[in-house]
Amino acid sequence: MTLRQAQDTKAGSTSTARHVAIIMDGNGRWAKARHLPRAVGHQRGVEAVRSLVRAAREMGLEVLTLYAFSTENWSRPEEEVSALMGLLKRYIMADLKEFVENNVRLQVIGNYRAMAPDVVALLDDALAQTAANDGTTLVVALNYGAQDEIARAAAKAAAKGEITPEAISAELDTAGLPPLDLLIRTSGEVRLSNFLLWQAAYAEMVFTDVLWPDFTPDNLREALEVYAGRDRRYGGR
Ligand code: FPP
Repeated sequence: MTLRQAQDTKAGSTSTARHVAIIMDGNGRWAKARHLPRAVGHQRGVEAVRSLVRAAREMGLEVLTLYAFSTENWSRPEEEVSALMGLLKRYIMADLKEFVENNVRLQVIGNYRAMAPDVVALLDDALAQTAANDGTTLVVALNYGAQDEIARAAAKAAAKGEITPEAISAELDTAGLPPLDLLIRTSGEVRLSNFLLWQAAYAEMVFTDVLWPDFTPDNLREALEVYAGRDRRYGGR
C-alpha cells in the first residue's frame, strides 16, 4: 500500500495534497537579523526555492505554486524591485535545463505580460520549453494579485454571458490546475495578502514561524503531515 492509499483509507483523514501554494515571507527579516542587505535575503530565498522545487518533484507533488512577486511589490524601492527581477531571471536561466530534463512544467499566474520585455521573453521561452512536460507543475505568481485575477476572470465570464462561480473559476489564471489543497505562509504572518483568495475557499492553511530562507524540504514534509491529519469537510459534516 502506498502512503497515499494509506492516507486515503484512514477514517476521517484527507488524502495526500495535490496542490500546495506558498507565501514565501521573511527574506528581509532573515537578512536584517544577520546585518546583511535585503537583497542577500532574497538571494537565499531563491536557494530555498531551488531546493524546494527539487523536493516537490522528488516527492511527486502535482502542483507547487509560489508567490514570487505581487502587484503590490512594485511599491518597494526601485533597487529592491530590480534585485528581485534579476534573481528571477537568473533562476529561470540557471534551472530551465533542469526543468526540461526532469519533466517539470512551468506555469505563470498574474499579469506577467506587463513586466519588462526581457523578463516576458525569458518566461515565454521557458513556458514553451516545458509546456509538454507532465511531471510536477511549478506555478510562479508574478505581478499577481488575487483581486486583479478575480476581476479579470469575472469580466471574461461576463463577456461570455454567464457570471457563476464555475464560469469565473474557468477564467482564473489557475484554470485547469487541481484545486488548491494547502496554503503555507512562512515568517509568522497570518494573512493572505491578496494571494489565491478565490482558490483558498476550502484550502487548509499552515502558518509557520520559519523565515523563508530557512524553509527546507523537511518543513514542507511537516506541513503535508499536518494537512494529512486535517479533517476536510467542505462545509458539510
Ligand atoms: C518576502 O520577503 C518575499 C518576497 C517579497 C519575494 C519572494 C521572492 C523570492 C524568494 C525570490 C524570487 C522568486 C523566485 C521564484 C525565483 P520580504 O522581503 O517581504 O521579507 P520581510 O517581510 O521579512 O521584509
